[in-house]
Amino acid sequence: MNFTRRQILAGLAGVSVLGLGAGGARYWLGRPGEAKTHDYELIAAPLDVELVPGHRTSVWAYGGQAPGLELRARQGDWLRVRFVNRLPEPSTIHWHGIRLPLEMDGVPYVSQLPVLPGEYFDYRFRVPDAGSFWYHPHTASGEQLGRGLVGPLIVEEREPTGFRHERTLTVKSWHVDAQGAFSAFSVPREAARGGTPGRLATVNGEALPTLELPAGQIVRLRILNLDNTLTYRLGLPDAEARIYALDGHPVAPRPLGEEYWLGPGMRLELGLRVPAAGAELSLRNGPLRLATLKSVTSGEVPGGWPAALPANSLAEPDLAQAETLRFNVEWAGALSESVAQGGAFKFWQINGQAWDIGDRSCAERPIATLQQGRSYLFELRNVSQYQHPIHLHGMAFKVLDSNRRTIVPYFTDTYLLGRNETARVALVADNPGVWMFHCHVVDHMETGLMAAIKVA
Ligand code: C2O
Ligand code: CU
Ligand code: CU
Repeated sequence: MNFTRRQILAGLAGVSVLGLGAGGARYWLGRPGEAKTHDYELIAAPLDVELVPGHRTSVWAYGGQAPGLELRARQGDWLRVRFVNRLPEPSTIHWHGIRLPLEMDGVPYVSQLPVLPGEYFDYRFRVPDAGSFWYHPHTASGEQLGRGLVGPLIVEEREPTGFRHERTLTVKSWHVDAQGAFSAFSVPREAARGGTPGRLATVNGEALPTLELPAGQIVRLRILNLDNTLTYRLGLPDAEARIYALDGHPVAPRPLGEEYWLGPGMRLELGLRVPAAGAELSLRNGPLRLATLKSVTSGEVPGGWPAALPANSLAEPDLAQAETLRFNVEWAGALSESVAQGGAFKFWQINGQAWDIGDRSCAERPIATLQQGRSYLFELRNVSQYQHPIHLHGMAFKVLDSNRRTIVPYFTDTYLLGRNETARVALVADNPGVWMFHCHVVDHMETGLMAAIKVA
């Protein structure tokens, strides 16, 4: 693929006025007057924040915050984002879960050239699906996502839904020590297991926050796991909560139940009936509290349960005609020669092949080539003792069944494949391109668990 020349920031009129002010400043220029476009100038830059009380952490922020500024667009409209790189290293933005043209997918050397410090890149695409999505770099992911380059992208439905209130909750556990200093984003011994965990759990960038919600109302909670490593076992004890969407796509509303396992990259949308004023609910990760949801007096009449969200228009795979492809997720564990030569560790592989993040030519050797327009059934088999949130770029897929749990079939872009689980998913290969197919435990993806799937 030939890439258009990158844009160099120097000499670009207008950008200098934005400057890099103190923390919390908003750098983007929204243009709400233009109903059909959503323009953002999104600057990635270092920023000092206080994650640990009394201590400073130098994070990398999008739009002056980490996690990054919440971007919003309306289903079917164009989203236009000028990404300005003020980081000390090259970066890109990938739009997780958005079905878009390959040139906008943010994968270095596949979609575009990395955006160098001082340069900008204009992302411009239509957002076909309503739901909760997110954005992050696809370069030096362990460090860049680890330092805070992760942000929500909310695509609103075209017509109003039954929800009058909503909140976005991003969860991320930071790799910082008790003084707020960054610790290693990746430790080989952990990368070979479940991935390197951060120790400071936060919701919207804050440890144990209290979030106020209007009493008696049904609030749409968009919970996004923007963490490098951790699967959160989300629970809301004693709450009346229903699942409305998974990973961006609506489902028939059903009770949340005791726990929902939300792997890295995954999103959960709930309807929550906020209890009487003064009551508190606790959002938990297993037994641990992540945030307090506090009910405050509301003048509104109590709301009823909204109907299901309107389905996105996704092609239904033709299972009778679908070709089956098998993908085995394996632990490789071999200390490859590339490590001795200064290359990356390879602990993980798909069908015997480990991706080498240092080798730009990997994408030229797709693990599968799909015929555009045809249906495929993927059998995902995890033969390892760790779970892997398996993510595909460019297309949504439908989860059909699993040998380990009961599945109500649903569309997603990321499936949490449990230890020793085999799941079957299907899709229509309707988006031409070379699409990354990888585990979203960043440590796993950077030590081999990635492949390219070509649609032509
Ligand atoms: Cu969030 Cu390659 O993806
Ligand atoms: Cu993605
Ligand atoms: Cu994994």
